[in-house]
Amino acid sequence: MSSDVVVPNLFSGLGPSVAAAVAVVVVTIVIAGKIFRRDGENGQPYPPLAPASMLDTMNKMQGSDLPWFYLQMATTLGNKYTYRLKLPLRQMFVVTGDPNFARDVLLDPKSTKPDLYRQFEADGIGNIFTRNGEFWHARRKGTAPAFSSSHIKRMNSVAIEIAELWIKNTLLPVMKEGKPFDVAKEMINITLDSICKTAFEYDPTEEEKEQFLKCEELVTTEYISRSLSNPFRQYLGPLLPKRREAMQAAKKNLALAKRIIANYRAMKNPTKGTIVDLIANNKCYATLDEMAVDLIIYLVAGHDTTGYTLAFTLLELARHPEEQKKIRDDLAKRTPDDWSNSKVVQMAIKESMRLYPVSAGGSLRQLGRDFETDDGFVVPRNSNVVAAMILLHRNPTVFEDADKFIPSRWENPTKEMKDAFLIFSAGKQNCIGQALANAELQCIIPMILSQVELEVVEEGSVDCFLTMKPTGAWLKAKPLNGN
Ligand code: HEM
Ligand SMILES: *[C@@H]1O[C@H](CO)[C@@H](O)[C@H](O)[C@H]1NC(C)=O
Repeated sequence: MSSDVVVPNLFSGLGPSVAAAVAVVVVTIVIAGKIFRRDGENGQPYPPLAPASMLDTMNKMQGSDLPWFYLQMATTLGNKYTYRLKLPLRQMFVVTGDPNFARDVLLDPKSTKPDLYRQFEADGIGNIFTRNGEFWHARRKGTAPAFSSSHIKRMNSVAIEIAELWIKNTLLPVMKEGKPFDVAKEMINITLDSICKTAFEYDPTEEEKEQFLKCEELVTTEYISRSLSNPFRQYLGPLLPKRREAMQAAKKNLALAKRIIANYRAMKNPTKGTIVDLIANNKCYATLDEMAVDLIIYLVAGHDTTGYTLAFTLLELARHPEEQKKIRDDLAKRTPDDWSNSKVVQMAIKESMRLYPVSAGGSLRQLGRDFETDDGFVVPRNSNVVAAMILLHRNPTVFEDADKFIPSRWENPTKEMKDAFLIFSAGKQNCIGQALANAELQCIIPMILSQVELEVVEEGSVDCFLTMKPTGAWLKAKPLNGN
């Protein structure tokens, strides 16, 4: 608490950004000597330093083109897929797209989520996503039963109903009118409705959804992007208008989570084993705020990654009519209840996840021991290592034509390709919701493609604030066979 007060006073009179810059420079000088050394204790080399200044790196870490920066650094270093970033941190910060090293780190029992994750915490309230040890384990174990196969089936059938309604009430009508649709917005609406209904038995109003999405964006950009790139923002706190706005937004979302919990508690016959049921009755939560914060984690993680993956897959398929045709030909050979087993559909989804990994920020871990990479670099204990999905998935030594959308590459994948595909991360802190995400993707994509043909109207662009997403991508649906 004291640092919240001391730092602003120290720089009183200066603008907050000047204060932050001064603080950064001071800390940099103090620690640069230590982290930018070229070799380890016994003369073995550290991974190469990325050719970007610290300020440049910090800028990129908060920008929307982080994945492209990661790729550019690897290429500029002559296809080195493990390198160090210059950041004002006490420990070494390593980015890797080397499947063996990434897996070794993620699967090592001594690897932990570093304290950097705590900057994602609104008001310093710990949650399943940011913590380690027993605190994390009690939460993870508590909600794990919500992802049993019977619950996945129940949740997925609701998601299918919602997607069917969307096709009937939105997609087919806009097609008749010849109008395009914003694919990311529509998919997010479907996945948000689904998670609310299935995990929380809550019917949000359109206003609640709109406010939640707006607040989520404010919180994400401030707490995650800005804090990571400038650790001093947390001390400057309320002095920064954007930070203040984000604090308000976090409070609004916490209030929504509490309404969801209250709604659950008021129900006569709530479904057993939903996420809200398991959170509300888990003794590990000390306060209602702690419950509410975890519920928000599930609300965010449970809709945006799946929604944007649906959107990227539809966008790629719209760009590739020949791949759409392959899918339709395969679906024609099956009954609808068998569509989700279509290997052709699964390969298209996997390939779009490879090319556009929504979890682009990667999986960050702190090493509990020294590591040596296959290239002979040492990465000492306590270093921060990011398994960067964008580097892993577009590593040219693993994937031929790594930047191209080629679903058929997954027909006979090499072991290296399978190892490099880390969309849900790996190890004990991997994605708890992956079976649900896969079920939804494998059902909703064929439902849409069996009814319409898609084409691109506006390409839009790719944005990245924690989640990688297509923005301003507009598609148009056409009747099949020109009917
Ligand atoms: C395509 C969809 C999804 C992708 C690509 C994805 C990806 C990921 C990744 C990479 C992590 C690890 C993050 C890290 O190491 O920092 C993660 C964690 C997590 N995901 Fe997902 N996810 C998806 C869908 C879901 C869904 C549908 C849910 C819940 C309904 C969910 C809930 C969570 C939770 C709670 C964690 C934290 C788990 C822990 O720390 O124990 N995710 N996800
Ligand atoms: C989201 O979907 C619901 C139906 O589930 C619909 O009533 C609503 O208009 C949609 N909202 C947006 C912003 O498209």
